Amino acid sequence: MNPGFARLAAYPFERLAQLKHDLVPPPSLPHIPLSIGEPRHAPPAFVVQRLRESLGELGSYPATRGLPELRAAGSAWMQRRFGLPAGTVDAEANVLPVNGTREALFAFVQAVVDARRAGPAPLVVMPNPGYQVYEGAALLAGAEPWYLNTTAQNGFLPDLDAVPAAVWDRCQLLFLCSPANPVGTVMPVDYLRRALELAERHDFVIASDECYADLYDDESAPPPSLLNAAVAAGNRELRRCMSFHSLSKRSSLPGLRSGLVAGDAALIEPFLLYRTYHGCAMPVPTQMASIAAWDDDAHVAANRALYRDKYDRVLPILQPVVKVARPAGGFYLWLPVDGDDAAFTAGLFAAQHITVVPGSFLARESGGCNPGAGYVRISLVATGDECVQAAHRIREFILSWKKS
Ligand SMILES: Cc1ncc(COP(=O)(O)O)c(C=O)c1O
Repeated sequence: MNPGFARLAAYPFERLAQLKHDLVPPPSLPHIPLSIGEPRHAPPAFVVQRLRESLGELGSYPATRGLPELRAAGSAWMQRRFGLPAGTVDAEANVLPVNGTREALFAFVQAVVDARRAGPAPLVVMPNPGYQVYEGAALLAGAEPWYLNTTAQNGFLPDLDAVPAAVWDRCQLLFLCSPANPVGTVMPVDYLRRALELAERHDFVIASDECYADLYDDESAPPPSLLNAAVAAGNRELRRCMSFHSLSKRSSLPGLRSGLVAGDAALIEPFLLYRTYHGCAMPVPTQMASIAAWDDDAHVAANRALYRDKYDRVLPILQPVVKVARPAGGFYLWLPVDGDDAAFTAGLFAAQHITVVPGSFLARESGGCNPGAGYVRISLVATGDECVQAAHRIREFILSWKKS
């Protein structure tokens, strides 16, 4: 078997289930799960309708490249959303459908990493804390993960210039995530340009996970894509760039399993070949529903407003007792807990019947510390009223935690 299996870490939710196993919360309080990053707003009815209408298409094999209409809708959305110069994301050359970003992020690493090259194992560099799939994908591709700590000291933006040149020389792929899960930071264009300069100098590819790109706080400042940075640097071929997008968060459609990748034609082409062998074409009804979703921005603005409203209601309850920041993007709160995050999570569940994720479960020991330690991640995915109720209970727990 692939030796990488032995090194795969338990998923944070398995560790969380163990942590909660023997705890008995007060039966009078209904459970409010705020641990999983699964959107729970209603899926747009017109997308579900299009899916139903397209079920007759199940009789034929879909093409891995997807329908031309889907690639056209994806490229039009990229152009519109990121204000890219006309023709930057060509529907034939620069875009492919994927079955959600998770499988695409994983598959891309398998396609890009060359572990057979002579010398030490290649590195895949990634944010820490970060999405665990980056790490598992690197290990199964025969690469070593290298962690970029994301901390309050660096303003929750990993310090690219603190990485030794020898690490960049071994790096074959850099993962970025903006807006970031779990910390909520948005990477500015200049930061993305710096990453691209390093990629050019040290010969590596950048995978920019932008699956939260449409969930942001400031309506006048939507988060940029890595592709904006490429264009700003005069890199019109989008060399070394791949951006990953999803309908899961944008359109509250995590069950549809639909997203897209957009970037360098010289990466798209071999990735398409890889995917053809892998066998991960998107079913045609899913493609039809996805076209409807990418074509419409009004439901996304409404979705964003729902999250904004939750931050507006929850933060005034929490901020008097804890220094928690309003994130620039995503739907999480990265809450400092002043103590052991696993003990806080267990205590909160036992006392208030609320589930959050210990930050240390989302990060790795690196550079002498676990940068997730001392934080918990709260997903504001429940209804507004439930989130408010949860905020009151979390506040009560924080006050008792501080006294203890
Ligand atoms: C940072 C990040 N990337 C990727 C994903 C995967 O999303 P999907 O496969 O639904 O597009 C998630 C889901 O929670 C995530 O948080």
